[in-house]
Amino acid sequence: MGQICHVTDMKLIKELLSQDEALENIVVNGWVRSRRDSKAFSFFALNDGSCVGNLQVIVDAGIPGSEKMTEANTGASVSITGNLVPSPGKNQKWELQAVEFRLLGGAPEDFPLQKKGHTREFLREIAHLRPRTNLFGAVFRIRSRATLAVHQFFQERGFHNVHTPILTTSDCEGAGEMFQVVVPDKKEEFFGEPAFLTVSGQLEGETFATALSRIYTFGPTFRAENSNTSRHAAEFWMIEPEIAFCDLKGDMDLAEDFLCAVIRDTLDYCAEDIEFLNKFVDKELLARLEGIVAEPFARISYREALELLEKSGKSFEYEYNFESGLQSEHERYLCEEYFQKPTIVFDYPKSVKPFYMKQNDDGETVAAMDVLVPGIGEIIGGSQREDDLEVLTKAVEEHEIDAKHYEWYVELRKYGSVPHAGFGLGFERLIMLLTGVSNIRDVIPFPRTPGNCKF
Ligand code: 4AD
Ligand code: MG
Repeated sequence: MGQICHVTDMKLIKELLSQDEALENIVVNGWVRSRRDSKAFSFFALNDGSCVGNLQVIVDAGIPGSEKMTEANTGASVSITGNLVPSPGKNQKWELQAVEFRLLGGAPEDFPLQKKGHTREFLREIAHLRPRTNLFGAVFRIRSRATLAVHQFFQERGFHNVHTPILTTSDCEGAGEMFQVVVPDKKEEFFGEPAFLTVSGQLEGETFATALSRIYTFGPTFRAENSNTSRHAAEFWMIEPEIAFCDLKGDMDLAEDFLCAVIRDTLDYCAEDIEFLNKFVDKELLARLEGIVAEPFARISYREALELLEKSGKSFEYEYNFESGLQSEHERYLCEEYFQKPTIVFDYPKSVKPFYMKQNDDGETVAAMDVLVPGIGEIIGGSQREDDLEVLTKAVEEHEIDAKHYEWYVELRKYGSVPHAGFGLGFERLIMLLTGVSNIRDVIPFPRTPGNCKF
């Protein structure tokens, strides 16, 4: 058997050839994207998911294994040994001249991903096969790389990754959007009290930030909000850094650095996939990403945001006032039309934010911030945390949440309390930003949304 190569390795071939390395007898495994037959030979377009490009393979009739060729329809898996040679065709520089053909798994002609384009809706119905398309290949290679970029960003800055629990008894955001965990047919509670799937690792994250100083979580979170939008999923991944000895300004700086670093990494390491997405999904993707990292984000207070909405003279569907918070149409006006770049809104009214946020001296606002990006709206939400024992105890009462579930959290303010801050980035919204894909269902392998938990 020759050396096993990936299609992506073929990109290195030119250099290898110029160094006179033998490119004979290499083995490429993959799935057939298409086959064209002529009398004496067949052309295969082979893809193994390592990159967006296919490898053209020529299989002469009569080589070992070639009798199985006719079963190798679109979707079949094959293992082909051959020699890489310059291609006379104009679509590729190199092609593989097969010397041995091995059919691994055939595919009947009803394989759903034939060459014609499919709608995203149809592809969601076959989520077990859609990773084999160019689009989903590109999205999930970017998702994988972005995962590394997230860890790299924090680890390089001395943050420690903490695995916060998925099962919990406290509702961090206090929005009542939790899924309850029950054991079927058991009357008594498994944990002795009602337990839920976490909406956020923040509260547990804070306990580690007040010990290791800089931490981040990166895990699945769950929300039973019944919102059927293109930006909400019932299960999504969140990254939550938490920093001791840090205020809101430091928090906003970190959020901005973080977003830009992951975008730069994607531009550097996923250039081919970005190019593909720019061509076929969103023609402004590349320019938008390059624009985001080119200049500082806009930063405005919530009160200033209201003034800008007022001045816009636009008629919005939803009303806005100090108490109402911002709807997504308002957020999008600010970052898409007014600033035309990522915009951080800070100092929100206390009434629209959770109990744990640091109260400002004005008595009306909290040291909260949301990062809004064009095309998506809110991508990050964060705040400085209330570090005063008395004020936090009162906030728990005012929000009418069950104090006994938060005793340990409040106690962090009793023993060595420090100013601290953090934020949460919705990982799927980040992947939407990085890929230009406009529906959250298409950037997570198996989306969970109201009415849909298939696969
Ligand atoms: O603004 P949120 O609710 O903030 C928190 O959960 C805080 N505990 C974060 C923190 O300070 N540590 O959620 C944070 C982000 C949002 O900005 C959004 O990007 C994403 O999580 N998000 C969702 N993504 C997909 N589907 C949903 N249903 C989401 N809800 C929030
Ligand atoms: Mg939020």
